Amino acid sequence: MSMSDTTAHADIEKTAVRSRMVGRLRASNDGDEETLAGWVHRRRDLGGLLFVDLRDRSGLVQVSFGPDWTEAESLERAGKLGREDVILVRGVVAKRPTGARNDDMATGEVEFRAASLEVLSDARTPEIPVYRAPDDELPAEELRLQHRALDLRRPELQGKLVLRHRLVLEVRNYLDRHGFVEVETPILTKATPEGARDYLVPSRVHRGEFYALPQSPQIYKQILMVSGFDRYFQIARCFRDEDLRADRQPEFTQIDVEASFVGVEDILVWMEGMMASVAAVAGIDAPLPFPRMTWNEAMERYGSDRPDLRWELEINDWTEATADVDFGIIRSQVDAGGRVRGFHVRAGASLSRRQIEALEGKAKAAGAPGLLWAKRSDDGTSGPLGKFLQPEHADAMGLEVGGLALVAAGPDESTSPWLSAVRPAVIDAMEMEPVREHGWLWVTDFPVFDEEDGVLTASHHPFVMPHPDDVGLLEENPAAVRGSAYDMVYNGTEFGSGSIRIHDSSLQRRVLRVLGLEDEEIDAKFGFLLSALEAGAPPHGGIALGMDRIVQRFTKSASLRDVVAFPKTTAARALFEGAPTSVGDDDLEALGLSIIESARSRADEREA
Ligand code: AMO
Repeated sequence: MSMSDTTAHADIEKTAVRSRMVGRLRASNDGDEETLAGWVHRRRDLGGLLFVDLRDRSGLVQVSFGPDWTEAESLERAGKLGREDVILVRGVVAKRPTGARNDDMATGEVEFRAASLEVLSDARTPEIPVYRAPDDELPAEELRLQHRALDLRRPELQGKLVLRHRLVLEVRNYLDRHGFVEVETPILTKATPEGARDYLVPSRVHRGEFYALPQSPQIYKQILMVSGFDRYFQIARCFRDEDLRADRQPEFTQIDVEASFVGVEDILVWMEGMMASVAAVAGIDAPLPFPRMTWNEAMERYGSDRPDLRWELEINDWTEATADVDFGIIRSQVDAGGRVRGFHVRAGASLSRRQIEALEGKAKAAGAPGLLWAKRSDDGTSGPLGKFLQPEHADAMGLEVGGLALVAAGPDESTSPWLSAVRPAVIDAMEMEPVREHGWLWVTDFPVFDEEDGVLTASHHPFVMPHPDDVGLLEENPAAVRGSAYDMVYNGTEFGSGSIRIHDSSLQRRVLRVLGLEDEEIDAKFGFLLSALEAGAPPHGGIALGMDRIVQRFTKSASLRDVVAFPKTTAARALFEGAPTSVGDDDLEALGLSIIESARSRADEREA
């Protein structure tokens, strides 16, 4: 990806200060007189001759200073240049002799012979280097985030943010072509139930009352459908106070979409079409249509609702094949209604006991008591489960000679997460080749509710339309109610999630009641939505895709922090500007707030 892509014409690079940018100077520019400006990336002093790599957003060019072509005062000034000084050079582009070309540099065919030099801005010694030799490691992330202004000078980071801009532009263009209208919705708003804690903002005018920052524009976009906007989108900033991980930021950006008079099919086809054009901008293949799988099927075959389809390894059901295996763990689990499930790892008998223990460690980390296994060789089966297997069991399981079976017994709710945690580790341990480079997938028919220890929660949010065949089950067996809900998955990452919504206010109230809300609470929290739905609501549905995650995956970045200009740390701190901060007593007074000191010291201790 080239940073100069957004400035494709030399004439738009010209300003009152400079005649062009540096990145596209080529041999064909030989003899051109130019005025260039930018940062001193690095300087080399070759006794009398001085070379400076001059950097601007478009790239680098080598500027040379020498007694034969640089005026004396400028030459002297060049000798004192420090890294990251901002300079202006007037001079001539000169083709380099063949032997002096630098093929590692886009502008390596030329150098810029400076006749004069002006220092526009002196830089103090940078706290973190911007120039790095090829095998220099990056400074620690904390240091980079503290000095983000310098860190953001790195061409890699600039490249990622420029690509992000181009992807967002493609999203806007695509949605515009498909009749979607971008509408901004409030940031100071009321709680949105997306499952995280809200960021609250105290009101000064209404002391004791708080706005919530939106976890998503969900309710507003539904109301826009009621208002007749027909197709809405927004590149929307969302805020969630939740435990942070590499793929989560407290504030992040969604491509938020909603449309009226649609079915699931409309949304999936629009969105995969959009992703194909967006992916093309990043040079990534997205063959259409994307494969689809119901949630049940994904859980059955991969134990996960976001399987990474780059690899084929799938879960087998071996309950029947092991029906007469006399092994306590298996029998007790099956008698209790569980199943025997696991992976057949071809050639997996080559894994050492230690490697298998490491796989078991993954299962244990996901809550499993252990992982059963059997290896098959010409002499029969071995291992904690293998000991109990007869050749006919191994045959029925399809366990090949040289193969390894990794087995979990229990209820699906348990064995699915265990096996799903083991799967990537098996792929790693066996160094399995991916069968495709890009694992696009739709997972459909998510359940409407999650049930854990008898407590029901909305598996997406409480506005998902139950499958028409399952509406009757709402009160008696809510856990079995399928929703018209879908997720877009890419290489095992959830890119986005959406659904067809409930557009009938009494059905919406029923679902909220099933979730344990009393009518009074329903009216207080969702009265404005229910009332809007009663004003004549079209059937509608939509989706939201995580922009940050898309850019992260497309640029193969380790963290969302690499694709956000000013990100927060996992402790939800902004290190560059220093946020959050405490506020003065006057501000607290005006807001009618006071800080409980014991709470503050507890928080400090936690962070320390
Ligand atoms: P959901 O909560 O699944 O759905 O969010 C949609 C997508 O937003 C991204 N995302 C995040 N990205 C970075 N940091 C976070 N903390 C974070 N949380 C979520 C993910 C996720 O798939 N209103 C519904 C959508 C709808 O039903 O239309 C919603 O917000 O990529």
